[in-house]
Amino acid sequence: MANPIIQLEDVNKEFGRGKKTVAALRHINLDIEQGEFVAVVGPSGCGKSTLLHVMAGLEQPTSGRVLLDAVDVTLIGERDLPKLRGQKIGFVFQAFLLIEDLTAYENVEAVLWPSEELTKEKQEQMTLEVLREVDMLERRDHFPRQMSGGEQQRVAIARALVNRPPILFCDEPTGNLDSKIGETIMKYISDLARSKGMTVVLVTHNESLTKFAQRVLSMKDGAIR
Ligand SMILES: Nc1ncnc2c1ncn2[C@@H]1O[C@H](COP(=O)(O)OP(=O)(O)O)[C@@H](O)[C@H]1O
Ligand SMILES: [Mg+2]
Repeated sequence: MANPIIQLEDVNKEFGRGKKTVAALRHINLDIEQGEFVAVVGPSGCGKSTLLHVMAGLEQPTSGRVLLDAVDVTLIGERDLPKLRGQKIGFVFQAFLLIEDLTAYENVEAVLWPSEELTKEKQEQMTLEVLREVDMLERRDHFPRQMSGGEQQRVAIARALVNRPPILFCDEPTGNLDSKIGETIMKYISDLARSKGMTVVLVTHNESLTKFAQRVLSMKDGAIR
C-alpha cells in the first residue's frame, strides 16, 4: 500500500520558554490516507490551529517529524517550503483572508503557482473553472466588500483549490458564518474533495460539522485521544 499522504511522528510543539511554556501539541502520532476526510474537534485553545500549521509547514514543531507524501517538511528549508506548499496544500481560514483591493477573480489568480506551461490563457481557464465549481463565476469582478461572508468564503475555497493541491486544510472554515451558510460551505468542500479525491483535514470546535468526515479525532490539551 502507498504511504499515508500525511504522517506525524511524535510531534511536539511548545510556545514560549521557562515558566511560561505552553505545550500546544503533545506527542501527536497520526497517519492520514490519500482521499480521507478527517475532522479534528476540540475546545478553543486545545491546539487545533497549531496542528494544522505544523502539518502545513507554516510552523516548525519543537520535536518530531511531519511527512507530506513521504517528504519531511521539517527538513525543507525556508527557501523551498513555499514551493511545496504551493503544489501540495490548500488552506482555508476562518477569516477568509481575501485581499480587499483585488476582485474575486484576481484573488484566486494571484496564487497560481508559476510554471513554464502556465500561459496567460491557461491561468484564465484554471481561475474561471475553479470559480465555477464554487458557483462564484458571476461574482468574479466583485471585491470582497461587495460579497457576503458565505460568498467570500467560497472565493477563498476557490483560491485554496486553484493549484489543484492533493491536500486541503480547513481551520474553522465556517466559524464566521451563520449555521445554514456554514452547512452549504461544508458541502462545497466535501463534494469537491470527493470528486477530486482530495485529502481534507478540517479542524473545528463545532461538533455538527463532523458529519462530513469519515474519521473524527478528538483533541484535548494538545493531545489526540
Ligand atoms: N504563537 C503563539 N505563541 C504563544 N502561544 C501560542 C501561540 N499560538 C498558539 N499558542 C497557544 O497554544 C495553545 C493552542 O492554540 P491553538 O492551536 O490556536 O488552539 P485552537 O486552534 O484549538 O483554539 C493555546 O494555549 C494558545 O494560547
Ligand atoms: Mg484555532
